Amino acid sequence: MAIEQTLSIIKPDAVKKQIIGEIQTRIHQAKLDIIAIKMVKLTKEQAEGFYAEHQDKPFFANLVNFMMSGPIVVQVLQGENGVERYRQLMGPTDLSKAAAGTLRADFANSMRENAVHGSDSLASAEREIAYFFVDSEIFQ
Ligand code: TYD
Ligand code: MG
Repeated sequence: MAIEQTLSIIKPDAVKKQIIGEIQTRIHQAKLDIIAIKMVKLTKEQAEGFYAEHQDKPFFANLVNFMMSGPIVVQVLQGENGVERYRQLMGPTDLSKAAAGTLRADFANSMRENAVHGSDSLASAEREIAYFFVDSEIFQ
């Protein structure tokens, strides 16, 4: 299995709840390493650009408003089969379908306020990591 990097975001709802450490403990237990990290508050333009693939969806405006509603923690994770394994740790977008023990089942408030983001493919991971980090900020 290949060692992969993926982009993880601890979203505004989870930062407000002060569960950054709890989420990072789950990431550690899943044998994913945090190799880059920063706390930022997105502008409207940054939130829209990050979620550009969803710009025509009915939930886009609310998603953008939510993502800029408070600070977020952006991290690069690294590990074997990292993209898929972090998606499994998060659970599905819809928390009502998420298995207990996944981050979204345990921490999401709703479909929109769902605690965490993770890249959905290697290509997305590459784009999303470059959206937030330059090479010198990533410690492999
Ligand atoms: P999406 O990329 O489909 O989900 P994921 O975060 O699991 O990759 O959607 C991006 C975010 O948009 C999602 O985390 C929460 C929000 N969203 C809604 O608010 N309503 C919806 O119906 C969907 C599909 C997503
Ligand atoms: Mg997605």
